[in-house]
Amino acid sequence: MSTNLLKGKRGIITGALDENSIAWKVAQKAHEQGATFVLTNAPIAMRMGEINKLADATKSKIIPADATVVTDIENLYTESMQHLGGKIDFVLHSIGMSVNIRKNIPYTELNYEFFNKGIDVSAMSFHKMLAVAHKLDAINDWGSVVALTYIAAQRAYPFYTDMADIKAMLESIARTFGYHYGMQKKVRINTVSQSPTRTTAGGGIKGFNEFFEFAEKQSPLGNASAEDCANYCISLFSDLTKMVTMQNLMHDGGYSSTGVSQAQLDALMK
Ligand SMILES: NC(=O)c1ccc[n+]([C@@H]2O[C@H](COP(=O)([O-])OP(=O)(O)OC[C@H]3O[C@@H](n4cnc5c(N)ncnc54)[C@H](O)[C@@H]3O)[C@@H](O)[C@H]2O)c1
Repeated sequence: MSTNLLKGKRGIITGALDENSIAWKVAQKAHEQGATFVLTNAPIAMRMGEINKLADATKSKIIPADATVVTDIENLYTESMQHLGGKIDFVLHSIGMSVNIRKNIPYTELNYEFFNKGIDVSAMSFHKMLAVAHKLDAINDWGSVVALTYIAAQRAYPFYTDMADIKAMLESIARTFGYHYGMQKKVRINTVSQSPTRTTAGGGIKGFNEFFEFAEKQSPLGNASAEDCANYCISLFSDLTKMVTMQNLMHDGGYSSTGVSQAQLDALMK
């Protein structure tokens, strides 16, 4: 049901790879809520062609951009503003990739070239997207920028290896850039810390299915789905959350505040 929460707002949504992607659901919900937006992803991800279906369904233009390349990001904002007819009101950063995770390299033996790549793609890209927007004055006052993160930024999760450190950096960029952008332009910046979710990025982690079940048992409300996450992002893009900025917001069914659930104990006592 549409309540036009984002009516008249213009956005940029990164990271929709296929229908499981969290960004895919955000795009569907943003469309339902009356927003117009541009979809973007790395040129290499376009080869799958899935994103064209989403663009058709949401009447959106696709502008390819590698989020590690500043000139690509400059072009993304410039073309988006031209196409959408004005400055941007919301941006979703939904980009994550670790070569160390993909190659199953343990945390104590990280390959530093891969580590650098992971930092560039998954955290520094966020700074680049914010810095370019700031330089071009591409985001309207009270605009909202959201990036997706994971609780391994605050607690140790062995399987998340270098992405734990990278997400900590992402969350710090949200706070620090949020300060500067908020002071100067009233632009707000937050991270949403999402439950484990079955997507291409999530599924690439060793032991993901087992951990997904663990988190499901640990969370009073169960794991938050990609669709739930999209709803939360939409609320953050809307004016209803106008005074929320520089926060890392847990979206995890209560997981992060639970010491141990009875369901975990019951499983151990069997
Ligand atoms: N799936 C989970 O369990 C989970 C949990 C918490 C947070 N997150 C975060 O959510 C975000 C979205 O991931 P997802 O789970 O929807 O998986 P996904 O694989 O569908 O999305 C990741 C996206 O990053 C894009 N990308 C990779 N390199 C890029 C580059 N150089 N330039 C531009 N785009 C690039 C990919 O093409 C893909 O679309 C990520 O930041 C991820 O870390 C995921």
